[in-house]
Amino acid sequence: MNQYVFENTAVQAPDRFTALEECYDPVSRAQLLRTGVGPGWRCLEVGGGSGSLGAWLATVVGSTGRVVVTDVEPGHLHGLRYRGDVQVRRHDITRDSLPEGEFDLVHARLVLLHLPQREEVLSRLVKALRPGGYLLLEDFDCGYVPVLAAPGEDGAALFERVHEALMDQLRAAGADPLWGRRLFTALTACGLEGVNATTYAEAWRGGETGVRLHQVNTEQLRTALHARHVTEEDLQAFWALLRDPRFAVASYPLVSARGRRPLDRPEVTS
Ligand SMILES: C[S@@+](CC[C@H](N)C(=O)[O-])C[C@H]1O[C@@H](n2cnc3c(N)ncnc32)[C@H](O)[C@@H]1O
Repeated sequence: MNQYVFENTAVQAPDRFTALEECYDPVSRAQLLRTGVGPGWRCLEVGGGSGSLGAWLATVVGSTGRVVVTDVEPGHLHGLRYRGDVQVRRHDITRDSLPEGEFDLVHARLVLLHLPQREEVLSRLVKALRPGGYLLLEDFDCGYVPVLAAPGEDGAALFERVHEALMDQLRAAGADPLWGRRLFTALTACGLEGVNATTYAEAWRGGETGVRLHQVNTEQLRTALHARHVTEEDLQAFWALLRDPRFAVASYPLVSARGRRPLDRPEVTS
């Protein structure tokens, strides 16, 4: 069963995708280019969300390449459906079949963090690579989100308390909020070569697009947060803080980890 807590069918999903695209797509595009992706490559984008990166990949690989974008709930991929150069699939990465040895590049951003089966999923993603193909996994390290500025004495404490309750709720659903910092080890353990990881973060001010992520996440899990002793009054104060330009918080650090499936080596016979 899929346990993703921020279902795409919720009214908050479009705002989430806008924030992720604006804050992180430039970072992800730069990381994807570091793999050397170009014309003719066969690419798999897992949990494609709004499809912004899938659409961009299609322009990079051109007419000789191929891009498959999957999502367990692909309702927001409608923009891609009318493009001839992208294949959209409703697909649950935890249980639906995946071709083996097929792709030059497999990419997933902010998907495995949420899935309790992330280790098995990772090994299936590696198998989906052709020998020499690249895996780029990008996930947050939610353990480093310091408040950088707050208008009153209580602002930082309020942010930390609400955010920690949100993380508790994610953990209860099987997510690993620290998965980003584990990617390097996980990719290495899968036998990938040339594993490397880059981390990106910047300041988000109150009222800016980035802090909308905190707004939509807490709105969507409002009832669950109430059950975790975050009152409606707390949430209203938290949302007011997020709109206040005197407030600033570090963005979620996005860890981009990449590695390459080893080339098949001919067996040495003596
Ligand atoms: C936080 S969003 C990230 C979307 C996009 N990758 C991005 O970074 O903008 C997580 C996405 O993963 C999808 N997802 C969750 N569980 C999934 C599963 N089991 N198989 C495939 N996609 C899944 C969700 O539907 C959602 O679109």
